[in-house]
Amino acid sequence: MTSSAHPKRQDWRDAAIAAADTAARFITHEAMSHRTLTWEEKSATDFVSRVDVGAEERIRDMITMRIPGIRMVGEELSADAHPNEGLVAIVDPLDGTTNFLHGFPNYCVSICIALDGVPQAAVVHDVARGGVLHATASDGAFVDSSRLRVSTTGTPARALIGTGIPFKDVSHADRYLRQLGRLMPIISGVRRAGSAALDLSDVARGRFDGFWELFLHPWDLAAGVLLVREAGGRVTDLEGRNARLAGGPIVASNGILHDWFLDMLNDDAVPAPNPA
Ligand code: IPD
Ligand code: CA
Ligand code: CA
Repeated sequence: MTSSAHPKRQDWRDAAIAAADTAARFITHEAMSHRTLTWEEKSATDFVSRVDVGAEERIRDMITMRIPGIRMVGEELSADAHPNEGLVAIVDPLDGTTNFLHGFPNYCVSICIALDGVPQAAVVHDVARGGVLHATASDGAFVDSSRLRVSTTGTPARALIGTGIPFKDVSHADRYLRQLGRLMPIISGVRRAGSAALDLSDVARGRFDGFWELFLHPWDLAAGVLLVREAGGRVTDLEGRNARLAGGPIVASNGILHDWFLDMLNDDAVPAPNPA
């Protein structure tokens, strides 16, 4: 156990698993009537429904009852709260809202319990397909009771890479397209599945060899960061500094490919191949 791993981390994980389970049951029930839901506009291309809010209320009620004194940093109800101070639950009640609203089965509940900016416990509950991924600091990452390990792929040509194509803020679309253009011809494939927490989970479980996105919020990344690290992978920003809970750009990998991946993402000197 490292000095930053708190003795209560497993109790915190259990509370997060229970809260995620309650939210997942609610979301599953509501999914049956997703076609009749009202979509509220957060911005022109970003929507939310009463399901996101209802799931977060349920998580907040259970977490604050089981962990006295904890603060919530939740996407829908307390997005302005600071993720780096004291004991916090960083919560995305429904990651993959666009998928959920369309009935595309790739969405999850993501909860991270962090103390003074250090993730202690993490849960990603895969609602549509089932499976609870969880981790505690220094104790490893698991799906249900099976240990998670990142992939051992060391050859870019064999790498399957996940990403998040911008759709809320497209101001960095050119940079993103250049990155994509450099990677596309030399890797095995790119996937954009629509839930950053599940993308990071897929790195942790060795399905993806890497994942990057140019901007994520604390609730998109916090749980996934601990899962990837505890499964033996690496998560940084584009400069190779450890990913922080405050959010920003994120690059995750199995560790073996990380330096190559960072070079590819940063190398604006290398022009993308001409598709003609
Ligand atoms: C979004 C998803 C998506 C990612 C976006 C996130 P939401 O979260 O994780 O994959 O590309 O950056 O905001 O809105 O579905 O909770
Ligand atoms: Ca999200
Ligand atoms: Ca969300």
